[in-house]
Amino acid sequence: MKIRKNILLLTLMLALSFVLAACGNNNPSAETSSAADKTETAAETLQTEEPAENVSEESTEEPETTESETIEPDANSGNVLIAYFSYTGNTEEAAQMIAEYTGGTLAEIQRAEEYGDLQEEAEAEILDGVHPEITVSVDSIEEYDTIFVGYPIWWDEAPAMIATFLAENDFSGKTLIPFCTSSSDDIGNSLHIFNELCPDAVIAEGLTANDLNDIEPWLQGIGLLE
Ligand SMILES: Cc1cc2nc3c(=O)[nH]c(=O)nc-3n(C[C@H](O)[C@H](O)[C@H](O)COP(=O)(O)O)c2cc1C
Repeated sequence: MKIRKNILLLTLMLALSFVLAACGNNNPSAETSSAADKTETAAETLQTEEPAENVSEESTEEPETTESETIEPDANSGNVLIAYFSYTGNTEEAAQMIAEYTGGTLAEIQRAEEYGDLQEEAEAEILDGVHPEITVSVDSIEEYDTIFVGYPIWWDEAPAMIATFLAENDFSGKTLIPFCTSSSDDIGNSLHIFNELCPDAVIAEGLTANDLNDIEPWLQGIGLLE
């Protein structure tokens, strides 16, 4: 009888150890680690995707940065004309920069007839107050309220074509803004023709624009650029 009990007990213990062994194979921690593996894989996938998205976001943002670096015309500049005469290109360069800053329209002034002897004829015109015939690349000058007038200094004066431009247009009540380029003289001595020929215009502070870097602060100073 005692032997049977021992055999039964032994059989139960064996059966119990089988059950425990079987439970060990269904270890929940194995499932967890497998889920963790999946989570890691998903996270890795996201991590791989995120920089790719960032790259594409950056690549779409880059042109915006480039755009914001370009010169934006000032919203307060209104209808602006930049009229200029330029013999060798320096004044034209200044005029183009003013147009970029203000969003204004460029108008080139040219002498209708080319000079024969520049040195002789051009100085005589200035001294005698002659107004030579000119062409202007913009017709509707009367539509503009703010007019820049640019020229090279010749014999410490404005070339005679500028006198023609000022005399043959009605600038009453409009704002004229002189600017020039030169080899050394400043704009001061050349300004008298603005008051003489356009007494009813507002004459703003002029600029000798030999250094193009002076243009931006000058425009800010006269209120045409923020
Ligand atoms: C006929 C002539 C006269 C000039 N007279 C002067 C002058 O009196 N003072 C001066 O500083 N520069 C003088 N210059 C130099 C010009 O003003 C200077 O080179 C200017 O930037 C030229 O502008 P532009 O390239 O728009 O023609 C003269 C140039 C020329 C061709």
